[in-house]
Amino acid sequence: MTNLSLKCSGITFPNPLVLASGILGVTGASFAHSVKKGAGGITTKSLWKNPHPGHKNPTMFGTPEYFMNAVGLSDAGITKAVEELGQYLPTRKAPLIANIVGGKKEEFRDIAIAIEAMTEKPDMLEVNISCPNVEDEFGKPFACETATAAEVTSIVRKATTLPIAIKLSPNVTNIGKIARACQDAGADAITAINTVGPGMRWNIDLKTPILANRVGGVSGPAIFPIAVKAVYDIYQSVDIPIIATGGVNSGREALEIMMAGGTLVGVGTAIYYHGDDFWEKATKEMADWLTKEGITDISEIVGLFHQLK
Ligand SMILES: Cc1cc2nc3c(=O)[nH]c(=O)nc-3n(C[C@H](O)[C@H](O)[C@H](O)COP(=O)(O)O)c2cc1C
Repeated sequence: MTNLSLKCSGITFPNPLVLASGILGVTGASFAHSVKKGAGGITTKSLWKNPHPGHKNPTMFGTPEYFMNAVGLSDAGITKAVEELGQYLPTRKAPLIANIVGGKKEEFRDIAIAIEAMTEKPDMLEVNISCPNVEDEFGKPFACETATAAEVTSIVRKATTLPIAIKLSPNVTNIGKIARACQDAGADAITAINTVGPGMRWNIDLKTPILANRVGGVSGPAIFPIAVKAVYDIYQSVDIPIIATGGVNSGREALEIMMAGGTLVGVGTAIYYHGDDFWEKATKEMADWLTKEGITDISEIVGLFHQLK
């Protein structure tokens, strides 16, 4: 069977499928469980400097085509997160990406510094500048403008020795340009995409919004074409790896988004549909396809579509 192991930003992953931020990556035990079930790496949910309450319930709504969530990045703060990471990191069997978030630019720096002080550090930081609910002083996520995206990248770059991936929003018209600005400001990788929208649904009988927050970020199979296009555009604009995320729901789709430009593949909502059997099923599907095509090194398929006329 084809070996699925590959490198991203100098780090070796046993396979390209990485648990996306905010899905199950909450405790040291849950990190280890996903890896045991076959995840090639783990991303934590977004970690705040101070405890962050998130939004009121109901915060999630799912259909066979998409999920809508307004969890609101609830978190117990960086001190608690460092404890949980300490449960996993010394005996880790696959890399861990710590996802960080801040309401103000300086908060990103403070969290990066707190993580830098750990004896056993995560393998990479992922910088969430794209949550639909976290805005700069002009009312937009930092990822919506090249200048603010680059500024946050540069702040984190100065605060850590770890590789940094900047997580971008699909809700822009120039994602390639924004990714390039992040690379120029010191990013080692780009994660794309965060949720789409936000979207809104209503209950026509009760005449109430389905989510207490009224709006929520859209994820799952319906956003896969948007993710493939975003990854394709970013690949043409940068020379750093992409953690391709958004709607991936099978091993074949993981291969497709890698061929569009992803080195790693973030998997989020698919875990709600398939449970943690997803990892084994999808990696087998990937390995079988590569074997059938006679490809022994999976990194050969990264960006393959760009070689076609
Ligand atoms: C319930 C839920 C919580 C999420 N929480 C976070 C988060 O804390 N930080 C973040 O950067 N992205 C978060 N995301 C976005 C995912 O990491 C991912 O970018 C997005 O859902 C698209 O991938 P998917 O379609 O495979 O889920 C969350 C998504 C969902 C569904």
